[in-house]
Amino acid sequence: MADTIVIEGGKPLRGRIEVRGAKNLATKAMVAALLGDTPSLLQDVPDISDVTIVTRMLNAYGVAVSSPAEGELLLDPVNVARTHFDTIDALAGSSRVPILFCGPLLHRLGEALIPDLGGCRIGDRPIDFHMDALRAFGAIVDKSYEGIRITAPNGLHGANIELPFPSVGATEQVLLTAVRAQGVTELKNAAIEPEIMDLIAVLQKMGAIIWTEANRTIFIEGVDQLSGYTHRAISDRNEAASWAAAALVTQGDIFVGGAKQQDLLTFLNVFRKVGGAFEVHEDGIRFWHPGGPLKPVQVETDVHPGFMTDWQQPLIVALTQAEGVSIVHETVYENRFGFTDALHQMGADIVVHKDGLESVTRRVPRRKLEQAAVITGPTPLHGAEVEVPDLRGGFSYLIAALAADGVSRVTNLGPIARGYEHFVEKLEALGADFTLEA
Ligand code: EPZ
Repeated sequence: MADTIVIEGGKPLRGRIEVRGAKNLATKAMVAALLGDTPSLLQDVPDISDVTIVTRMLNAYGVAVSSPAEGELLLDPVNVARTHFDTIDALAGSSRVPILFCGPLLHRLGEALIPDLGGCRIGDRPIDFHMDALRAFGAIVDKSYEGIRITAPNGLHGANIELPFPSVGATEQVLLTAVRAQGVTELKNAAIEPEIMDLIAVLQKMGAIIWTEANRTIFIEGVDQLSGYTHRAISDRNEAASWAAAALVTQGDIFVGGAKQQDLLTFLNVFRKVGGAFEVHEDGIRFWHPGGPLKPVQVETDVHPGFMTDWQQPLIVALTQAEGVSIVHETVYENRFGFTDALHQMGADIVVHKDGLESVTRRVPRRKLEQAAVITGPTPLHGAEVEVPDLRGGFSYLIAALAADGVSRVTNLGPIARGYEHFVEKLEALGADFTLEA
């Protein structure tokens, strides 16, 4: 894949693109297949590098992965077998998904190896909630220079777990472990993102017993045996929100096929408050800039059903064009405004307050780690040479370059391909002016 894109900005994006299955569900559903005694079929799988990484890791553990049709993966776990640390270490690369192999591998092999984890550099991203949960199930966690080795000599039993924060990853860890543990697990303060509910649907199709209660409580009754599933992945709401922001920033009109209103309610409210227009259809959502000035907003990122942290980067590019002062509080990750430096270089007026802002009235409880970005607009954006820092920051650079006056060179495109399927072909379909460099 080309590493650099050279964009001639100033042209509205117009047309239709499709978003497929969610990166943040598809990769977890692939891991869940390890728990079944028979093959699983996952449909609407996006062609992104995170899926390739998980496929290679499953292959390393003896899972046969094939593609019976475009966008489909057949995952056969019948011959699961141990592998070596360095094999996993070499494969895990830039993804955080390897940590979710723990539960299924402990059930299948009695051992799990966790290499150094990758993922976007948007904070320390510790795994203490995961390790504490696995210990609560009766697992033994051994740290060594190679990484972490987890065993369960006495098997795994149900547990009562309360997460200090509704972590998506730790909730998935508990789900993927509890479904075959002896007895009942009660998980309090769980994440309830649409991707979590879709993973619960996958596990229930396999034979699991899981019920959710109000106030973020999930109960899982362990079973001895699970079989394969057939499942169509939930559509990628993060990609849909990103293209919506692209329509706004470029004063364009984009129909996002596959976008689902119920997964984007909070995003759509903010999109409308900023001055964007949208129309919900059976097969997707049309997003466009209705003309006129954009309006400033105050946004706090939060866990679902709040404004998602993965939506703030593309939105901030739009807010650089709003008439007035916008404030975005990042409350989920402690270091997710690094991408604003390059926007500054392109002419944006963004001030990051590393300790957040006391003054502003808040809905989301204040967290020690949070930061705030104050965006003053409108300031015309101009072309620049920028390097992609991470997945969502990278996409925001593409749409800033598309809106900017003049030419931009966006390098290190790899992180964008981790979560945005065929983004170059989609830019082409939407009429963007660009060339690629190897
Ligand atoms: C998932 O990351 C997503 N990634 C992220 O999307 C998303 O931003 C995040 O959930 C929040 O919605 C995938 O699904 C692969 P968390 P995850 O555990 O599971 C702290 C994207 O752009 N925490 O909910 O890693 C953590 O540091 C990516 O697609 C601990 O302190 O997120 C963070 O501050 C980026 N200890 C907060 O919780 C732990 O053991 C939320 O993290 C675990 C998490």
